Amino acid sequence: MNLLIMGPPGAGKGTQAEGMVKEMAITHISTGDMFRAAIAEGTEMGMKAKEYMDKGALVPDEVVIGLVKDRLQQDDCKKGFLLDGFPRTVEQAVALDETLKDLGIKLDGVVNVEVPLDKLMARLTGRRVCRGCGASYHVIFNPPAEEGKCNSCQGELYQRDDDNEKSVGTRLNAYMDKTQPLIDYYNEKGVLKPINGDQDIDKVLTDILDTFK
Ligand code: AP5
Ligand code: MG
Ligand code: ZN
Repeated sequence: MNLLIMGPPGAGKGTQAEGMVKEMAITHISTGDMFRAAIAEGTEMGMKAKEYMDKGALVPDEVVIGLVKDRLQQDDCKKGFLLDGFPRTVEQAVALDETLKDLGIKLDGVVNVEVPLDKLMARLTGRRVCRGCGASYHVIFNPPAEEGKCNSCQGELYQRDDDNEKSVGTRLNAYMDKTQPLIDYYNEKGVLKPINGDQDIDKVLTDILDTFK
């Protein structure tokens, strides 16, 4: 199965992706995680992306599109994939359609995680992320068993540089301006699956998995 998960910053894309790829045995591709890995490695691309990310602005389309095109051609995508955080602009969506056409594969569904915008700030400012495996936790809504440590890999938990009020504000504006139009784009193609993301984490996952049974 080849899927996308979309939704505003903090909707729970990464959290749900973790459960989905386990259940469906497909490959998770998060452009945000790819950029954070490049930053940690100190690559030139990573340093360039960081300037945009820290402010909460989108990384330019030409950088992101090339990255995803290469990634989709790797072997582990043959069993199916879940794109998380891409596409984020109509230009990226059009480029994805072209890439999938070239590869001779189609998109089976687009999960749109819906959460009222006024709930997102608290989710993001309380988030903690694992340095080892990228898993998302929350100091109140989804705390780890042991403070500061990942449940699955024991990695150290940290706070993302863009999870502050100012950057979150910019990210929400970028979402409304550039990404929200993709809801209509995929609805018109008949692949959009709206999911209520304002429920318990486990219930959201059950709803998503039921959609693809
Ligand atoms: P990215 O890493 O994709 O960030 P984002 O879209 O802002 O989304 P988040 O990862 O912040 O949220 P999420 O939906 O994954 O939520 P999570 O599951 O962690 O991108 C970062 C930056 O990279 C961008 O700003 C941009 O600069 C750049 N970038 C990336 N892709 C790009 C692209 N395609 N084009 C251009 N630029 C790009 O959950 C959030 C919190 O809520 C957690 O604490 C979690 O525990 C909690 N939570 C989750 N579900 C629930 C629930 N049901 N109830 C209560 N709490 C919950
Ligand atoms: Mg994420
Ligand atoms: Zn971990």
